[in-house]
Amino acid sequence: MIEGSSRKEEDLIAVALEARKKAYVPYSHFPVGAALLAESGQVYTGCNVENASYGLSICAERVALFKAVAAGERQFEAIAVVTETMATPCGSCRQVLAEFGESELQIIVADPEGQMEIYTVGELLPASFTAQHLPPST
Ligand code: THU
Repeated sequence: MIEGSSRKEEDLIAVALEARKKAYVPYSHFPVGAALLAESGQVYTGCNVENASYGLSICAERVALFKAVAAGERQFEAIAVVTETMATPCGSCRQVLAEFGESELQIIVADPEGQMEIYTVGELLPASFTAQHLPPST
C-alpha cells in the first residue's frame, strides 16, 4: 500500500464521489462510485446497479471497466473507488481488473471525507489466474 496523495489521485476520487451519487442501491443502501483512468487520459465512471433478483446486481468497478472497454480502451493506470467504509474491490472486480490492469494498476480506495489508501491489483490479487494459464488455442 502506498501512502500519501497527489493531484491525480484526488481528482480521480472527486470524480468517483460524483459517480457514487448515481448508484442504484434500493436493497443494500450501500452506494459505490468508481472512476477509472485509462492510459489515453480518459476517465470512465461507474456506480453499482442493483436488481430485485439480487445476484444480477453489478459493482461500480465493473461498470466503469466495461464502459471503458466498450469505448475501445484496453490499458489503464488507476481506479478510484469511493464508499462510506473505504471498501476494497470485491474478488470478482479484482479478477476483472487484473485482466486489463496487469499487476501495476493502482486501486485507490477512499471515503467521502477524503481518507484514502492506495494498493495495486497485484497486492490485492496475488498469483491471479490469467490468460497465461490457459492452454494454447487450437
Ligand atoms: N459493491 C461494489 O459496487 N463494489 C465492490 O467492490 C463491493 C460491493 C456493491 C455491490 C452491492 O450493490 C453493494 O455494494 C453491497 O454489496
